[in-house]
Amino acid sequence: MNIRKIGIAGAGLMGASMSQIFAKYGYAVTVYDAFENALEKGKALVQQNQNTQLLSGEATKEEVESVLSALVFTNDLNALADCDIIIESIIEKLDIKQDFWEKLSKIVRDDTILTTNTSGLSIDSIAVRVNGKHRFLGMHWMNPAHLIPCIEIIRGSETDDASTDAVIELAHAVGKKTTVCKKDVPGFILNRLQIAILRESIALVEEGIADVADVDACMKYGLGFRYAAFGPFEVVDFGGIDTFHHISSYLNKELCNATDIQKLLDDLYKEGNYGVKSGKGFYDYSDGKAEKALQDRDEKFMKIYNALYK
Ligand SMILES: NC(=O)c1ccc[n+]([C@@H]2O[C@H](COP(=O)([O-])OP(=O)(O)OC[C@H]3O[C@@H](n4cnc5c(N)ncnc54)[C@H](O)[C@@H]3O)[C@@H](O)[C@H]2O)c1
Repeated sequence: MNIRKIGIAGAGLMGASMSQIFAKYGYAVTVYDAFENALEKGKALVQQNQNTQLLSGEATKEEVESVLSALVFTNDLNALADCDIIIESIIEKLDIKQDFWEKLSKIVRDDTILTTNTSGLSIDSIAVRVNGKHRFLGMHWMNPAHLIPCIEIIRGSETDDASTDAVIELAHAVGKKTTVCKKDVPGFILNRLQIAILRESIALVEEGIADVADVDACMKYGLGFRYAAFGPFEVVDFGGIDTFHHISSYLNKELCNATDIQKLLDDLYKEGNYGVKSGKGFYDYSDGKAEKALQDRDEKFMKIYNALYK
């Protein structure tokens, strides 16, 4: 299908971020949110992201202005009725998403593609009251959505091939890469990999084997450096199946297999130390360090993208 009009539900961190990608590529974009103040926050987020693009030379003044003027922000759900695709990125609460989709799927056309940016809720559960489940699927972006190239496409048990292909095609049309998760399993692909690494990272620190900064250094300068360019299977092929077979024979049984939330993470959570957003997490972000950390992060992502994929 020819997708021209994009409807984004949720003007938060993710919705605002992804909206500007579509605007940049000339799509008509309507951003809906149930709350007036959320729309203002969304506009401010887009402005902030576009300023970073401008300051880093990634976009010209004209390009930034054209992105800003292409976006329509609204509180009116009916404004999404004539969209070719809906990307829902509202709060990660199952009942709220289910209510939203029940209403929305009744007001759009029968051929409108319906996607959710859920981080990990079941696609089938979100779609339980959707009218036309064959066109419903997961389209999981990564934060910051305008900078990370990968979009995870997750099929629900009733999703058809045509809808899956259309979403993949759209992602590629706006310069993104895709990964397809064929089954609606907890964590899909990305979070299963991410949490497996996090679990072992926390275990290394909790057992006094390494400090937080050393685990991060190992990832950034070693594994992550490789993983920016090659996946785990490609890495094994370069290293040798025999070598990794041998390592697996003695190491698999040594690895952390915790099924509860680990103490280090739980303690930070209970203390209200949520990371950059609260000024403290594993590291300290007080006194303006958070802003600097975010800017530094975005500049690094742009450099990696430009070096490998531009
Ligand atoms: N933040 C991340 O790193 C990240 C990454 C990938 C996916 N996600 C997923 O994206 C979605 C949004 O996350 P976010 O980080 O942008 O959250 P956010 O809190 O920044 O934004 C959520 C938005 O949803 C709006 N909202 C709440 N209830 C609504 C309703 N009934 N109808 C319409 N809008 C409503 C809120 O006003 C808010 O603007 C979630 O499903 C989340 O799991 C988040």
